[in-house]
Amino acid sequence: MMPIIAPSLLSANFLNLEAECNMLNESQADWYHLDVMDGRFVPNISFGPMIVEFFRKATTKVCDVHLMIEEPEKYAEQFKNAGADILSVHIEACRHLHRNIQQIKSLGMKAGVAVNPHTPVAALSDILHDIDLVCLMSVNPGFGGQKFIPYTLEKIKQLRKMVDERGLNVHIEIDGGVTMENAASIVAAGADVLVAGNTVFKSSDPIKTITKLKEL
Ligand code: DX5
Ligand code: ZN
Repeated sequence: MMPIIAPSLLSANFLNLEAECNMLNESQADWYHLDVMDGRFVPNISFGPMIVEFFRKATTKVCDVHLMIEEPEKYAEQFKNAGADILSVHIEACRHLHRNIQQIKSLGMKAGVAVNPHTPVAALSDILHDIDLVCLMSVNPGFGGQKFIPYTLEKIKQLRKMVDERGLNVHIEIDGGVTMENAASIVAAGADVLVAGNTVFKSSDPIKTITKLKEL
């Protein structure tokens, strides 16, 4: 099965977002991966619902919004109104994760849970049947262009086993440091969604890079 490719716009040229979106729209990219950072949960600030709304207007592709923020329940509705299709919250930022997930679903979005490199996949055990996607961080969130943490491959295998044994339909998305070199092994381990920031946007031919990632 070919993986879903979700380029991370964090690495796009923000002086020319329209051209970047046109490029993605022409490409085989399946989703837009939109990284929201608050400067509290992660040591960086990116963009909020206003920018997501512009991306929404620029594409018919799935808008996959990755919230790296504290108190995501305060903003879920704004992201729905901005046009998010999938909304992921961090397990480490949610004291009442189950409630957060119910909120996202009741707003009519697909719900994802993102986990930092130190969080065991076992922590997802009792929420897995309630969600549509797990975003496994393969770097510490906050910045594009970091190096893939190899132990993630082990976590992908564990999670794939959990998902399949229970007959669930949960996407396993890998976020951070995905390259041409490691993408095949990530998919072989059981992931079905590849986020790629630098690999796509810093390549000399992003459209071709996306095709290659998809067909690896
Ligand atoms: C990191 C973000 C990622 C990031 C990926 O905090 O969640 O989505 O943009 O960028 P690359 O692919 O360059 O590691
Ligand atoms: Zn992300």
